[in-house]
Amino acid sequence: MLFQKKRLTTPQTQAAAKQRMLSPTSPFAIREAYNSIRAKLLFTGRGEKCPVFAVTSAMMHDGKTTNAVNLAISIASTTKKVLLIDGDMRKPTVHRYFGLENKNGLSEILAGLTNEVKIRKTDVENLHVLTSGQIPPNPAELFGSKQMDNLLAYVKDFFDYVLIDTPPVNLVTDAAILAEKITGYVFVVQSGKNHFYEISYALDTVQQMNGNVVGMILNDAAGKSGSHYGGYRNYSYNSRAYYRRGYGRGGYYSNYYSTYETKVEDEITRQQDAKDAARKQENAKKQESDK
Ligand SMILES: Nc1ncnc2c1ncn2[C@@H]1O[C@H](COP(=O)(O)OP(=O)(O)OP(=O)(O)O)[C@@H](O)[C@H]1O
Ligand SMILES: [Mg+2]
Repeated sequence: MLFQKKRLTTPQTQAAAKQRMLSPTSPFAIREAYNSIRAKLLFTGRGEKCPVFAVTSAMMHDGKTTNAVNLAISIASTTKKVLLIDGDMRKPTVHRYFGLENKNGLSEILAGLTNEVKIRKTDVENLHVLTSGQIPPNPAELFGSKQMDNLLAYVKDFFDYVLIDTPPVNLVTDAAILAEKITGYVFVVQSGKNHFYEISYALDTVQQMNGNVVGMILNDAAGKSGSHYGGYRNYSYNSRAYYRRGYGRGGYYSNYYSTYETKVEDEITRQQDAKDAARKQENAKKQESDK
C-alpha cells in the first residue's frame, strides 16, 4: 500500500521528472505511441494557424503532465514551434521537467501583475514553456478571463502549436472553462485506474461546455514494459467506494482540489444511485413480464 501511494505522487524533483521525458533513447514503442498521437493532432488542427490543445483527464495522477510534456516534445521534434503552458495553477509541475524557475508565469500574467510574457526556452529544440507562476486563489476565474483570450491570441503569432497542461476535470472547473477558447482536448485515461463513471462524467462536463475532445490517450502506467508501476493494474477500485474512500474531505489530494471534490463525489454518487435504481426497476419489470 505504501509502495503504491509513493508511486502515485507527482515528481518532486527535476531528476524524477526527467526520467519520464521522451527522448531519442526512449523505447521505440513509446516513441511510436507519441508519434501516432501527434499525427492525429496535426490532422485535427481544423486548419487553424496555431491550434491550441488542452491535455486533461478525469482525476488526479492520471498522467496529464507527463503526456503533455511528451506530446510537446514529440511535436517539437517535427520542427514545429511548440509552446507548452503549465495551466495547472493549483499544482504546477511542468517547470520541474525542464529545470525552470516558476516566476512571472501564467497566473501573474492573467492577474495583471506583469505585462511581460516570460516564455522560456528549453533544452528541447523548438519547445518553449510558459510556467504556471505563483499559485493564485482563483485559477478558474483567471482561465475564464479576457486576459486568457489576449494571451492565447498573442502567443499564436509566435508558435505553431500550443499545449496546455490542466488540472483534472472532475475535481475543478479550470480545464472545462477553456472549452471555447481552444481547438480541443486531449483526454488522458489511465489504464486500470480510471473508472468508467469518472471518464463519462468528465467527458459530459467538457461536452456541456461545448468542448471538443480531439483525442484520447490510454496511459498504460501499468504497462508491461518500461513501467515503474509494476502490479498497479491489480489494485482495482470500484465506483462509489472509490470516490468515498479516495476523495473525501480528508482525501489524499484535498490540499489541492478541496473545493470541488466533495461536490463532484456527491454528484457522481447521486447519478450512479439513480442509474442503479432505474436498472433495478427495469429488471423487476422484466421479471414480472417474464412470469
Ligand atoms: N505511463 C507512465 N508510466 C510510468 N509512470 C507514469 C506514467 N504516466 C504517469 N506516470 C507517473 O505518475 C505520476 C503522475 O503523473 P503526472 O504528474 O503526469 O499526472 P497528472 O495527471 O499530471 O497528475 P496531477 O493530477 O497531480 O497533475 C508521476 O510520478 C508520473 O511520472
Ligand atoms: Mg499534472
